[in-house]
Amino acid sequence: MFYITTPIYYVNAKPHLGTTYTTVLADVLSRYHQLRNEKTFFLTGTDEHGINIERLASSRGVSPQEHCDELALEFKKTWEALHIAYDDFIRTTEKRHEEVVQQVFERLLAQGDLYKGFYKGWYCPRCESYYSLEELVEEKCPTHQINVEFIEEETYFFRWSKYQDKLLKYYQENPDFVIPEGRFREIISFVEQGVKDISVSRSEVSWGIPVLSDPSHSVYVWLDALLNYVSAIGYLKDEEFFNSCWPPSVQVMAKDIIRHHAALWPAILMALKLPLPKHLMVHEYLLVVGSKMSKSGGNIFNPLVIMEELQKGTGISKEVSADALRYFLVRDGSERSDSDMSLDLIFKRYNSDLSNDWGNFINRVFGFMNKVALNHVPKNIEPLDPKFLEKVNTTSKNYIQSMISLSPKEALKTVNEFVRFLNTYIDSKKPWSSIEEDRDNTLYHSLEGIRIAAILLIPIMPYTSQMVLEALNYKVEKNLDEELNLLRLKPETPINTKFPPLFPRLQ
Ligand code: MSP
Repeated sequence: MFYITTPIYYVNAKPHLGTTYTTVLADVLSRYHQLRNEKTFFLTGTDEHGINIERLASSRGVSPQEHCDELALEFKKTWEALHIAYDDFIRTTEKRHEEVVQQVFERLLAQGDLYKGFYKGWYCPRCESYYSLEELVEEKCPTHQINVEFIEEETYFFRWSKYQDKLLKYYQENPDFVIPEGRFREIISFVEQGVKDISVSRSEVSWGIPVLSDPSHSVYVWLDALLNYVSAIGYLKDEEFFNSCWPPSVQVMAKDIIRHHAALWPAILMALKLPLPKHLMVHEYLLVVGSKMSKSGGNIFNPLVIMEELQKGTGISKEVSADALRYFLVRDGSERSDSDMSLDLIFKRYNSDLSNDWGNFINRVFGFMNKVALNHVPKNIEPLDPKFLEKVNTTSKNYIQSMISLSPKEALKTVNEFVRFLNTYIDSKKPWSSIEEDRDNTLYHSLEGIRIAAILLIPIMPYTSQMVLEALNYKVEKNLDEELNLLRLKPETPINTKFPPLFPRLQ
């Protein structure tokens, strides 16, 4: 099973482009593995407990549960609009999750991994994390630049320090546990400097899961949240399903939460004697004019609003605009460095890659076939053009290699390069001034090019790729390797050449 997860998002505001980016990446990888005929399980959800949500709900004059219900729905609606095909959406306020968290807490307590103590220190309510004085920047949270709070309370500690050497050993033995390498080195040096036991319960936070054996404490929101990755797939309840999924193949997130995922989470899993995730795929931030997109910072970039702007400028449908936005995020998102986002950049990418390259190629081929009243797959002359064949082979190879090394952006670049090749191919072959046999041969190659590109684009733009394949009257039935072989379009198959322009130009 290819089991992939996103972080579960705080319900402190609606989804924005940053959370959308992570979720789209996970969806792309999940869909890619489906194309390979693998079984996949894609999990996302919402992180609903903690002091921040408790205060937010109270400031809105609603109960925390009402607040969470409302926001969880916003996430679901947005993901649906963006064609995110998750298999499960877990909410940490669900009973199925709360029960697992309570049982895990008791188990860790019983086996001596938790002990009662007293915590005194700094806390950022926004990231729900503890900070030492040295970690603060001008006395503020290094991530959120907001004032931190001093807390002093009785707590249960998790013996994180006990796992320090085991963690380092694991890192050494699994050099691609965290991707990219630079982020992995950061984590290794963090752990090498020494991890201290961490407080995993709060006695002053009521909006949390009560500790079964000591209900005056609620479980620390990060311990609660991390356990979603096991609770959602039936940990302690449905052993068979759990074992069929665990461990995750890939856990996707941005750099802000790698310590929690690469150092704390593995230690908890070690305590629970569970295998560790195979890869953590870490990306950078999307920025809006230089600052991190944040739900409370006022620079919210709502994906649904961006989709509306694309629709207004082009007349495309909501579904097509979702594909266009997915394309942009994968192509211009921040795999290895932070990247700026703006409507202007989105529009530019739309015009250059979708309208001028991909949409244009389809229009040219179908438009020409219309003109010459050809509405079926024409005959080709074998053997196939060796240059064309070679381009298809290198495209497929590079695309697959990029997906395997967890770089959908590189995979997409390969497809775009292929589409550009197709445009130059038809230019050089000039089917409009060729004799019928050559014309049909060029068209056959071009239609195969459209088929191959549409298949490779399925993970990134599932809706429009399907539209194109339907126009070709073609069904993807085999696994990706076989589908990428040429000569799969059968001559005489009727096709819908009256296909309207897929990505009309944005003015
Ligand atoms: N609730 C925790 C995660 C718990 S997982 C067990 C949390 N939630 S969050 O809502 O703050 O989401 C953080 C994640 O959202 C980041 O790791 C990243 O995946 C995504 N992003 C949030 N802002 C982003 C950008 N500006 N750019 C890119 N990704 C962004 O942390």
